[in-house]
Amino acid sequence: MTPLDTAAESWQGKNILITGGAGFIGSTLALRLVGLGGRVTVIDSLVPEYGGNLFNLQECEGQIRINYSDIRDTFSLKPLLTGVDYLFNLAGQTSHMDSMSDPHTDLNINCAAQLNLLETCRRINPTIRIVFASTRQIYGRPHYLPVDENHPISPVDINGIHKYAAEQYYRLYHDLYGIRSCILRLTNTIGPRMRIKDARQTFVGIWIKRLLEGDPIEVWGGEQLRDFNDVEDVINALLTAAWDERTYGHVFNLGSEKRISLRELAESMISLHGTGDLVIKDYPEDRRKIDIGDYYSSHDKFTGMTGWSPRIPLDQTLERTIAFYALNQRHYV
Ligand SMILES: NC(=O)c1ccc[n+]([C@@H]2O[C@H](COP(=O)([O-])OP(=O)(O)OC[C@H]3O[C@@H](n4cnc5c(N)ncnc54)[C@H](O)[C@@H]3O)[C@@H](O)[C@H]2O)c1
Repeated sequence: MTPLDTAAESWQGKNILITGGAGFIGSTLALRLVGLGGRVTVIDSLVPEYGGNLFNLQECEGQIRINYSDIRDTFSLKPLLTGVDYLFNLAGQTSHMDSMSDPHTDLNINCAAQLNLLETCRRINPTIRIVFASTRQIYGRPHYLPVDENHPISPVDINGIHKYAAEQYYRLYHDLYGIRSCILRLTNTIGPRMRIKDARQTFVGIWIKRLLEGDPIEVWGGEQLRDFNDVEDVINALLTAAWDERTYGHVFNLGSEKRISLRELAESMISLHGTGDLVIKDYPEDRRKIDIGDYYSSHDKFTGMTGWSPRIPLDQTLERTIAFYALNQRHYV
């Protein structure tokens, strides 16, 4: 029996806190957990440059407590963490470019605030269970593919350094104080509710916007290989990681067996949409410095321990996502 088979029973009546819960992945998780009977509270600072959007939570209006606070504010964390069974810690500054232009904000959110959260848990709620969303970006340029958890860590940007430092806090608080946490290193995650205004969260967002507005998709380079996870598969992984006690104290990659070049991805999107165009451009100089070339992950460790694996084919994800924005674009641009 997998955690998902028993999901409804496991989450019924549980107190669940989701940081970054108005964002892309956090809101999708919040909606799922409400459906499973969880008592969900969301913390989100709704900084306009990030992926938070209240429309993301609209279909469960009245069923989710929304707290407009900032995880950097230790004072407000205390009451919010009291009595919480599960914390899904998804709040983050996600733009790699912004982390280079404003490294201190990235430090404060992706690193110092994580220490705040852990320290507050240690003091007032040491039996909490936590899942922390980290990123594949910490590996830097792959030395071999697919990248597994034994791959050297060598971030090419400030964001990767801070996410890795935060991982180390979680490891230490687990080992020293028994704070039960699991770290998932996410690869490119796509689906409804992601930011499409610009490329701050993912280039796929701005590609969808351009597609819907009849502008050509700009592909930089084009031959780089990537793997993608459907956000619903990522939600399954987050729930599995929280539920399965064997994951605590461990770090796992997510990922997908399907690898695709960026040019092929753009072509698939155009074909699914039925119309559109693409232009191949050289990588801009500032981005080239933090580009990682080909990247795809091995998720064998997580699959081996928990049985999780991505189920949704990429074409289905793209089709569903494009259809979502064709209907709801005005809420996201
Ligand atoms: N989407 C991906 O492809 C991807 C890949 C790797 C890792 N991740 C990680 O997953 C997590 C969620 O990512 P996402 O794609 O949903 O991004 P997102 O930007 O949609 O969500 C993050 C949310 O956190 C909120 N937030 C930011 N700083 C905050 C603060 N100080 N206090 C309270 N809320 C704050 C934002 O308002 C936003 O709603 C992030 O930690 C990100 O690093 C995502």
